[in-house]
Amino acid sequence: MELKGLVLSGGKGTRLRPLTHTRAKQLIPIAGKPNLFYAIEDLVAAGIRDIGVVLSPETGDEVRSALGDGTRWGARFTFIVQEAPLGIAHAVKTARPFLGEHPFVLYLGDNLLSGGIRHLVAEYQATNPAAIVLLCPVDDPRAFGVVALDEVGRVVRLVEKPQDPPSNLALVGVYLFSPAIHPIIEGLRPSGRGEYEITEAIQGLVDRGQRVVAHQVRGWWKDTGKPEDLLDANRLALSQVARRIEGELLEAKVIGEVVVEPGAKIVRSTVRGPAYIGAGALIEDGFVGPYTAIGKNARVIASEVEYSILMDEAQVYHLPYRLDSSVLGQGVVVDGKGNTRRHTLQLVLGDRSRVML
Ligand code: DAU
Repeated sequence: MELKGLVLSGGKGTRLRPLTHTRAKQLIPIAGKPNLFYAIEDLVAAGIRDIGVVLSPETGDEVRSALGDGTRWGARFTFIVQEAPLGIAHAVKTARPFLGEHPFVLYLGDNLLSGGIRHLVAEYQATNPAAIVLLCPVDDPRAFGVVALDEVGRVVRLVEKPQDPPSNLALVGVYLFSPAIHPIIEGLRPSGRGEYEITEAIQGLVDRGQRVVAHQVRGWWKDTGKPEDLLDANRLALSQVARRIEGELLEAKVIGEVVVEPGAKIVRSTVRGPAYIGAGALIEDGFVGPYTAIGKNARVIASEVEYSILMDEAQVYHLPYRLDSSVLGQGVVVDGKGNTRRHTLQLVLGDRSRVML
């Protein structure tokens, strides 16, 4: 049977406050594109068109209107509201009427993966295991699901956010499942943190002797759970962009892999790639440094910005400091009023904040 997709875009996003006070964390732009769109693109590129999207009651409308009905990707979306964020396995259970007896790819909407999932879908179709999971070695596995393998690489144990991790292999938030996962989810009890854990459900498959295949990710993987992860994801995604200049350059120096979208203007400024300048943005008498993404209609006037994300309509004026490693929400205004002392400034500001220096 054909695979369906299930993208999770619910949950709370508490670790990304203040950015997530006003928006779904899955809509935070990474290299100029909402995080969630990368998951949709990966599914579509793997031939999966029938995609369920799990929403929370709080941010559901915003996510729904950002995604539309799927026609722009040639996909069909079914929106599923999960009344409370009771865990990833609970989200799968809520989506059961949509999933039916189809095998499916579960894709957490705040995960980013280079290299896509086509090879995994092809492997699933060829070998029909109970599950395929992806692993990635990390420095501190305690924030993730962690997997222990035996000497021939078989999965023996999976634990969610262990104090004492059995390995350094984190579970990536992209999983392929047969419908055998559903009866196991039905039997789950809430974990110590009060959630129905998909990690425990996969352990259930292992315990019943079902075939769970584990692969290490090719390329990079990022869970954009914290502000520093957003910046790192932005860096990784920007490192894959190719130069494309569609906006206007006036006395501008645009170096390397830079995207300048239509209607954007770079005036008496330097943009050093990799960087992304959104449609209608204005960079004037400024500097936009490597690994920076500037949102639609944003402004950088007489200021320097490096290794940062400025969301749509964010504005920085006359900054006496170079803005570095910062995330500015939609419509944020930071105005330095021409103050001339030079340092760097690091900010994480939610939508519509105002800072006068
Ligand atoms: O990112 C990989 C990690 O994702 C795995 O290593 C862990 O095993 C897995 O449990 C998960 O951990 P997180 O703590 O990062 O999950 P988080 O609560 O951030 O939720 C992941 C996504 O799923 C996020 O986009 C929100 C959505 N979600 C989450 C919950 C708990 C829902 O839609 N509904 C929910 O009830």
